Amino acid sequence: MNKREIAQTITASRKSDPGTEGIAFAPINIALCKYWGKRDELINLPVTSSLSISLRPLGTKTTVRIAKGVDRLVLNDREMPQECQTSQRVTEYLDLFRPDPHTAFHIESVTNVPIAAGLASSASGFAALALALDKLFGWELDSLSLSILARLGSGSASRSVFDGFVEWHAGEDPNGMDCYAERLPCEWPEFRVALVEISSEQKRVSSRTAMARTVRTSKLYQGWPARACADLEELKAGITERDIVRVGSVAESNALAMHATMLDSRPAVLYWKPETIKAIEKIWAIREAGSTLYFTMDAGPNIKLLFDERDSTLVEDEFAPRSIITPFFA
Ligand code: PMV
Repeated sequence: MNKREIAQTITASRKSDPGTEGIAFAPINIALCKYWGKRDELINLPVTSSLSISLRPLGTKTTVRIAKGVDRLVLNDREMPQECQTSQRVTEYLDLFRPDPHTAFHIESVTNVPIAAGLASSASGFAALALALDKLFGWELDSLSLSILARLGSGSASRSVFDGFVEWHAGEDPNGMDCYAERLPCEWPEFRVALVEISSEQKRVSSRTAMARTVRTSKLYQGWPARACADLEELKAGITERDIVRVGSVAESNALAMHATMLDSRPAVLYWKPETIKAIEKIWAIREAGSTLYFTMDAGPNIKLLFDERDSTLVEDEFAPRSIITPFFA
C-alpha cells in the first residue's frame, strides 16, 4: 500500500463528521536508542525499533480548518510561501486525507521549540497535525493508529503522539500496520534533559539524506541492527530500574555509534563542530570527577544532556543550557 492507501485504510472504518476546526498539541522527542535507517523509504518504516523521551512542554500546537482554494500554512504567525519545503511537505501530507481534490486546509502552527537548538520540530509538527486532523474529522482514532498516521509525515513523529518514555516498534508487516509507537508504563520524576546549543547554523546534510546514505554506503552500518536491538533492551531494563548510569551510558554510546556509521559513509557525514568535542570532553571530565552526567546527539552538532535532578545546579553552572526539561512534570 502507498501512504494514501494506508491513511484511507486506517480512517475508512471511522465515522467522518468534520467540525469547523481541530486543535492539538504534540511534544518534541529525543531518541535514547536511535531510529537510524529505513527499510521502506516511501512509508517511513525503520530498520530497527527505537526508544525516546518526549520533552513536553516543548512542542507544537496546531489548528486545522477546512477551506476552499489552496492550502495555507501559518507557522509562528508567519505565512509560509507555498513553494517552500515545509509547505510542500505539509501539502503532500494533507493530500493523504483530502476528501476530494477541491478541499483545501488552513493550518496554523505555533511551536515553542528553540529552533536554534537543532531539535527537529518536524516530529512534533506532524504528530500535532495528525492529532488535529483526527479532531477535525471526528474520527476518534486510538493512539496506535494516530502514531501510524503521524509516521507517514515523519518517522520520528510516530513517537511524538505520546508523553514520557516511548518505544517505536519496527514491526514486520510490509504495509507497516504493526509499525507504531507506544508509551512505556514508567514514570521517572527525577529524570532530566538539558538542551545545550552548540551551533544554530543550518545543517548542510538533512537527516533524511544522511540516513539513506549511511544505509547505502556504510559497512559499519551492517552491525547497527543487532547493536540497536541490544541497546533497546538494556535501556528498557535501565528505565524500569530508574538507573541513570545504565540509561545514560547506553544512550550516549548508542548516539556515538550512530555518528560512527555516518563517519563511515561515503561521502562521510560529520555534524560535529569543534565546540561539540569540547562539550563532550567536558562531560567526560565531569563524569570522571564523580557526577552522573551523560549526553545524546542527533543529526546535528548540538548536545542533549541526560541526568538526575540532583545534578541540575551543576548542569546550570557548567553548561548554561537553553532549557532544562522535566519530562514527568510538564
Ligand atoms: O524522523 P526523522 O526523519 O527526522 O529522523 C530522525 C533521526 C534522528 O533524530 C537522528 C534519530 C531519532 O531517532 O530521532
